[in-house]
Amino acid sequence: MIKILFVCLGNICRSPMAEFIMKELVKKRGLEDEFEISSAATSSEELGNAVYPPVQALLRKRGISCDGKFAVKICAADYDKYDYIIGMDSSNMRNMQRIFGGDREGKLYKLMSFTGSDRDVADPWYTRAFSDTENDVYNGCTALLNYLTDNK
Ligand code: 4NP
Repeated sequence: MIKILFVCLGNICRSPMAEFIMKELVKKRGLEDEFEISSAATSSEELGNAVYPPVQALLRKRGISCDGKFAVKICAADYDKYDYIIGMDSSNMRNMQRIFGGDREGKLYKLMSFTGSDRDVADPWYTRAFSDTENDVYNGCTALLNYLTDNK
């Protein structure tokens, strides 16, 4: 079982998009039983809130429901619970280092690094360009799944 936690600032846009797109990619390959996938925030800003409506709409177009997902915040214990903890941008990476007190087992990754880029996932919060985020998340998650299935 490979346990993955996607992380962003609020857990209402980027990381839930990654959680549900990754679950869909895993399902399409018939690998559901081999993965546990979740997402969480570094901040308390949106705690308890549902996935942001434009992200819900975008997932729905892919036939994916995110009903029942409400924003949660990462805690120190998540470091031991998950195998791969994947941030969306450099700020998420710094916040995770602070909350986890470092990265002693090398579990922290930035999503786009799996595509060979040190870029951040496009942040739709100010740009409203949700399809740019969707492309990044889809490409990042596809590369992540290839990496994980090649390295088993
Ligand atoms: P997310 O988007 O980190 O992708 O879920 C944001 C959500 C909330 C805020 C910023 C970004 N905020 O400032 O509350």
